[in-house]
Amino acid sequence: MDRVATVDTVKGLREAVASWRGAGERVALVPTMGALHVGHLSLVERARALADRVVVSIFVNPTQFAPNEDFSKYPRTLDDDRAKLAGLAELAYTPLVEEMYPPGFATTVSLAGPAAAGLEDAFRPTHFAGVATVVAKLLLQALPDVAVFGEKDYQQLKVIARMARDLDLTAEIIGAPTVREADGLALSSRNRYLSDEERALAPTLHRTLQDGAARLRAGEDAGAVVTAGEDALAAAGFAVDYLALRDAETLAPVSDLAAPARLLVAARLGATRLIDNIAV
Ligand code: PAF
Repeated sequence: MDRVATVDTVKGLREAVASWRGAGERVALVPTMGALHVGHLSLVERARALADRVVVSIFVNPTQFAPNEDFSKYPRTLDDDRAKLAGLAELAYTPLVEEMYPPGFATTVSLAGPAAAGLEDAFRPTHFAGVATVVAKLLLQALPDVAVFGEKDYQQLKVIARMARDLDLTAEIIGAPTVREADGLALSSRNRYLSDEERALAPTLHRTLQDGAARLRAGEDAGAVVTAGEDALAAAGFAVDYLALRDAETLAPVSDLAAPARLLVAARLGATRLIDNIAV
Protein backbone atom coordinates (compact mmCIF):
# COMPACT_ATOMS: atom_id res chain seq x y z
CA MET A 1 0.00 0.00 0.00
CA ASP A 2 1.23 3.54 -0.70
CA ARG A 3 2.25 5.66 2.24
CA VAL A 4 2.74 9.44 2.41
CA ALA A 5 6.38 10.60 2.61
CA THR A 6 7.34 11.25 6.22
CA VAL A 7 9.91 13.30 8.11
CA ASP A 8 10.36 13.24 11.86
CA THR A 9 12.74 16.16 12.48
CA VAL A 10 12.31 19.94 12.41
CA LYS A 11 15.27 20.06 10.02
CA GLY A 12 13.67 17.62 7.56
CA LEU A 13 10.37 19.51 7.73
CA ARG A 14 12.05 22.87 7.12
CA GLU A 15 14.05 21.55 4.16
CA ALA A 16 10.92 20.23 2.46
CA VAL A 17 8.94 23.40 3.08
CA ALA A 18 11.86 25.62 1.99
CA SER A 19 12.15 23.81 -1.33
CA TRP A 20 8.42 24.33 -2.05
CA ARG A 21 8.59 27.96 -1.02
CA GLY A 22 11.65 28.43 -3.22
CA ALA A 23 9.48 27.28 -6.13
CA GLY A 24 6.84 29.88 -5.19
CA GLU A 25 4.36 27.33 -3.83
CA ARG A 26 1.86 27.89 -1.02
CA VAL A 27 2.06 25.52 1.93
CA ALA A 28 -0.73 24.38 4.25
CA LEU A 29 -0.35 22.62 7.58
CA VAL A 30 -2.99 20.36 9.15
CA PRO A 31 -2.02 19.66 12.77
CA THR A 32 -3.39 16.33 14.11
CA MET A 33 -2.75 13.77 16.79
CA GLY A 34 -3.17 10.94 14.28
CA ALA A 35 -5.83 8.19 14.50
CA LEU A 36 -7.02 9.85 11.32
CA HIS A 37 -10.67 9.53 10.32
CA VAL A 38 -12.82 11.08 7.60
CA GLY A 39 -13.08 14.31 9.62
CA HIS A 40 -9.31 14.77 9.49
CA LEU A 41 -9.27 13.91 5.80
CA SER A 42 -11.83 16.66 5.19
CA LEU A 43 -9.37 19.11 6.83
CA VAL A 44 -6.67 17.84 4.47
CA GLU A 45 -9.01 18.36 1.51
CA ARG A 46 -9.71 21.91 2.69
CA ALA A 47 -5.97 22.50 2.97
CA ARG A 48 -5.50 21.11 -0.55
CA ALA A 49 -7.92 23.69 -1.90
CA LEU A 50 -5.97 26.50 -0.20
CA ALA A 51 -2.37 25.58 -0.99
CA ASP A 52 -0.10 23.78 -3.43
CA ARG A 53 1.47 21.54 -0.79
CA VAL A 54 -0.06 20.01 2.30
CA VAL A 55 1.82 18.89 5.40
CA VAL A 56 -0.04 16.88 8.06
CA SER A 57 1.59 16.78 11.47
CA ILE A 58 0.89 13.70 13.58
CA PHE A 59 1.95 14.17 17.18
CA VAL A 60 0.15 12.98 20.30
CA ASN A 61 1.06 16.00 22.40
CA PRO A 62 1.69 14.95 26.02
CA THR A 63 1.46 18.49 27.42
CA GLN A 64 -2.22 18.87 26.55
CA PHE A 65 -3.26 15.80 28.54
CA ALA A 66 -3.71 16.00 32.32
CA PRO A 67 -2.22 13.11 34.34
CA ASN A 68 -5.69 11.50 34.69
CA GLU A 69 -6.46 11.71 30.95
CA ASP A 70 -5.98 9.24 28.11
CA PHE A 71 -2.47 10.14 26.84
CA SER A 72 -1.04 6.63 27.15
CA LYS A 73 -4.10 4.93 25.67
CA TYR A 74 -4.77 7.58 23.00
CA PRO A 75 -4.97 5.59 19.73
CA ARG A 76 -1.70 5.51 17.76
CA THR A 77 -2.18 4.22 14.21
CA LEU A 78 0.77 5.75 12.35
CA ASP A 79 1.06 3.16 9.59
CA ASP A 80 -2.65 3.40 8.84
CA ASP A 81 -2.52 7.20 9.00
CA ARG A 82 0.34 7.30 6.48
CA ALA A 83 -1.65 5.06 4.12
CA LYS A 84 -4.74 7.28 4.42
CA LEU A 85 -2.66 10.36 3.55
CA ALA A 86 -1.07 8.82 0.45
CA GLY A 87 -2.14 10.89 -2.56
CA LEU A 88 -3.88 13.47 -0.30
CA ALA A 89 -0.92 15.22 1.37
CA GLU A 90 2.69 15.70 0.30
CA LEU A 91 4.25 15.09 3.70
CA ALA A 92 3.55 13.76 7.17
CA TYR A 93 5.56 15.31 9.99
CA THR A 94 5.81 12.82 12.85
CA PRO A 95 8.21 14.15 15.49
CA LEU A 96 9.03 12.13 18.58
CA VAL A 97 8.38 13.74 21.97
CA GLU A 98 12.14 14.43 22.35
CA GLU A 99 12.18 16.34 19.06
CA MET A 100 9.29 18.55 20.14
CA TYR A 101 10.35 18.91 23.77
CA PRO A 102 14.13 18.51 23.96
CA PRO A 103 15.76 18.12 27.39
CA GLY A 104 15.54 21.39 29.31
CA PHE A 105 12.39 22.57 27.48
CA ALA A 106 10.97 25.34 29.69
CA THR A 107 8.69 27.67 27.72
CA THR A 108 4.89 27.65 27.60
CA VAL A 109 2.35 29.88 25.88
CA SER A 110 -0.05 31.18 28.51
CA LEU A 111 -3.50 32.42 27.61
CA ALA A 112 -5.77 35.14 28.88
CA GLY A 113 -9.11 36.45 27.68
CA PRO A 114 -12.53 34.92 27.09
CA ALA A 115 -11.57 32.40 24.40
CA ALA A 116 -9.55 30.33 26.85
CA ALA A 117 -11.80 30.96 29.87
CA GLY A 118 -14.42 28.47 31.05
CA LEU A 119 -15.89 25.63 28.95
CA GLU A 120 -13.03 23.15 28.38
CA ASP A 121 -10.69 25.20 30.54
CA ALA A 122 -12.94 24.70 33.59
CA PHE A 123 -12.58 20.92 33.26
CA ARG A 124 -9.10 20.66 31.70
CA PRO A 125 -7.19 23.62 33.23
CA THR A 126 -3.80 22.78 31.69
CA HIS A 127 -5.14 21.72 28.29
CA PHE A 128 -5.07 24.93 26.25
CA ALA A 129 -1.59 25.96 27.39
CA GLY A 130 -0.41 22.60 26.04
CA VAL A 131 -2.36 23.02 22.80
CA ALA A 132 -1.26 26.63 22.25
CA THR A 133 2.38 25.80 22.95
CA VAL A 134 2.53 22.84 20.58
CA VAL A 135 0.58 24.63 17.85
CA ALA A 136 2.83 27.71 18.15
CA LYS A 137 5.82 25.39 17.77
CA LEU A 138 4.28 23.58 14.80
CA LEU A 139 3.50 26.88 13.08
CA LEU A 140 7.04 28.13 13.68
CA GLN A 141 8.57 24.84 12.59
CA ALA A 142 6.59 24.58 9.35
CA LEU A 143 5.96 28.30 8.65
CA PRO A 144 2.87 27.46 6.56
CA ASP A 145 0.78 30.03 4.71
CA VAL A 146 -2.38 28.51 6.16
CA ALA A 147 -3.22 26.05 8.91
CA VAL A 148 -6.55 24.20 9.06
CA PHE A 149 -8.33 23.12 12.27
CA GLY A 150 -11.70 21.44 12.78
CA GLU A 151 -14.68 23.36 14.15
CA LYS A 152 -15.52 20.30 16.23
CA ASP A 153 -12.96 21.63 18.73
CA TYR A 154 -14.47 25.10 18.44
CA GLN A 155 -12.90 26.59 21.56
CA GLN A 156 -9.51 25.22 20.50
CA LEU A 157 -9.95 26.85 17.07
CA LYS A 158 -10.70 30.24 18.68
CA VAL A 159 -7.84 29.93 21.19
CA ILE A 160 -5.43 29.16 18.35
CA ALA A 161 -6.70 32.00 16.16
CA ARG A 162 -6.28 34.42 19.08
CA MET A 163 -2.81 33.07 19.88
CA ALA A 164 -1.68 33.34 16.25
CA ARG A 165 -2.86 36.96 16.10
CA ASP A 166 -1.34 37.85 19.46
CA LEU A 167 2.06 36.30 18.66
CA ASP A 168 2.16 37.63 15.07
CA LEU A 169 2.40 34.14 13.64
CA THR A 170 2.00 34.55 9.92
CA ALA A 171 -0.15 31.51 9.11
CA GLU A 172 -3.78 32.19 8.34
CA ILE A 173 -5.91 30.09 10.72
CA ILE A 174 -8.82 28.40 8.95
CA GLY A 175 -11.71 26.53 10.58
CA ALA A 176 -13.38 23.68 8.71
CA PRO A 177 -16.87 22.25 9.39
CA THR A 178 -17.43 19.19 11.56
CA VAL A 179 -17.96 15.91 9.72
CA ARG A 180 -20.75 13.76 11.20
CA GLU A 181 -21.96 10.19 11.08
CA ALA A 182 -25.35 9.72 9.39
CA ASP A 183 -27.02 9.89 12.82
CA GLY A 184 -25.36 13.23 13.64
CA LEU A 185 -22.54 12.08 15.93
CA ALA A 186 -19.47 14.24 15.28
CA LEU A 187 -16.50 12.16 14.11
CA SER A 188 -13.86 11.90 16.83
CA SER A 189 -10.92 9.64 17.50
CA ARG A 190 -12.45 9.07 20.93
CA ASN A 191 -15.71 7.61 19.53
CA ARG A 192 -13.91 4.26 19.34
CA TYR A 193 -13.99 4.13 23.16
CA LEU A 194 -17.82 3.99 23.17
CA SER A 195 -19.55 0.66 23.91
CA ASP A 196 -22.35 -0.34 21.52
CA GLU A 197 -24.91 0.89 24.00
CA GLU A 198 -23.13 4.24 24.47
CA ARG A 199 -22.68 4.61 20.72
CA ALA A 200 -26.45 4.27 20.30
CA LEU A 201 -27.01 7.08 22.84
CA ALA A 202 -24.24 9.38 21.58
CA PRO A 203 -26.22 11.15 18.78
CA THR A 204 -28.42 12.69 21.51
CA LEU A 205 -25.60 15.19 21.95
CA HIS A 206 -26.01 16.65 18.44
CA ARG A 207 -29.82 16.41 18.61
CA THR A 208 -29.79 18.41 21.84
CA LEU A 209 -27.68 21.10 20.19
CA GLN A 210 -29.98 21.22 17.16
CA ASP A 211 -33.01 21.46 19.39
CA GLY A 212 -31.37 24.17 21.54
CA ALA A 213 -30.36 26.19 18.49
CA ALA A 214 -33.90 25.99 17.09
CA ARG A 215 -35.41 27.16 20.39
CA LEU A 216 -32.95 30.03 20.67
CA ARG A 217 -33.70 31.13 17.12
CA ALA A 218 -37.40 31.00 17.99
CA GLY A 219 -36.70 33.53 20.74
CA GLU A 220 -36.74 31.26 23.79
CA ASP A 221 -34.78 32.42 26.85
CA ALA A 222 -31.16 31.18 26.78
CA GLY A 223 -31.20 30.09 30.43
CA ALA A 224 -34.32 27.99 29.88
CA VAL A 225 -32.87 26.43 26.71
CA VAL A 226 -29.66 25.46 28.50
CA THR A 227 -31.56 23.93 31.43
CA ALA A 228 -33.82 21.95 29.07
CA GLY A 229 -30.77 20.72 27.14
CA GLU A 230 -28.95 19.67 30.29
CA ASP A 231 -32.05 17.80 31.46
CA ALA A 232 -32.44 16.04 28.10
CA LEU A 233 -28.81 14.93 28.16
CA ALA A 234 -29.01 13.72 31.75
CA ALA A 235 -32.20 11.80 30.94
CA ALA A 236 -30.37 10.09 28.05
CA GLY A 237 -27.59 8.95 30.42
CA PHE A 238 -24.99 11.68 29.92
CA ALA A 239 -23.08 13.37 32.75
CA VAL A 240 -23.00 16.96 31.51
CA ASP A 241 -19.82 19.00 32.02
CA TYR A 242 -21.28 22.11 30.37
CA LEU A 243 -23.83 23.32 27.87
CA ALA A 244 -23.27 27.00 27.18
CA LEU A 245 -24.11 29.82 24.79
CA ARG A 246 -21.11 31.95 23.82
CA ASP A 247 -20.27 34.69 21.35
CA ALA A 248 -19.18 32.88 18.18
CA GLU A 249 -16.04 34.99 17.76
CA THR A 250 -14.76 35.94 21.22
CA LEU A 251 -16.41 33.05 23.14
CA ALA A 252 -17.51 35.53 25.80
CA PRO A 253 -20.71 34.36 27.58
CA VAL A 254 -23.89 35.78 25.99
CA SER A 255 -27.56 35.50 26.83
CA ASP A 256 -29.10 36.53 23.51
CA LEU A 257 -28.52 36.33 19.76
CA ALA A 258 -27.59 39.99 19.21
CA ALA A 259 -24.37 38.76 17.56
CA PRO A 260 -23.60 35.34 16.00
CA ALA A 261 -23.47 32.82 18.83
CA ARG A 262 -22.38 29.25 19.37
CA LEU A 263 -23.91 26.62 21.60
CA LEU A 264 -21.18 24.36 22.99
CA VAL A 265 -21.43 21.14 24.96
CA ALA A 266 -19.21 18.62 26.71
CA ALA A 267 -20.70 15.53 28.30
CA ARG A 268 -19.54 12.13 29.40
CA LEU A 269 -21.00 8.77 28.47
CA GLY A 270 -19.42 6.25 30.81
CA ALA A 271 -15.67 6.90 30.69
CA THR A 272 -15.78 8.73 27.34
CA ARG A 273 -15.98 12.49 27.16
CA LEU A 274 -17.61 13.92 24.01
CA ILE A 275 -17.71 17.54 22.88
CA ASP A 276 -19.71 19.21 20.13
CA ASN A 277 -21.04 22.64 19.16
CA ILE A 278 -23.44 24.30 16.75
CA ALA A 279 -23.83 27.75 15.21
CA VAL A 280 -26.90 29.60 16.42
O1 PAF B 1 -6.99 18.92 17.74
C1 PAF B 1 -5.96 18.23 17.90
O2 PAF B 1 -5.85 17.11 17.38
C2 PAF B 1 -4.84 18.77 18.77
O3 PAF B 1 -5.33 19.46 19.87
C3 PAF B 1 -3.81 19.61 17.99
C4 PAF B 1 -4.44 20.87 17.41
C5 PAF B 1 -3.23 18.78 16.88
C6 PAF B 1 -2.68 20.04 18.93
O4 PAF B 1 -2.03 18.94 19.48
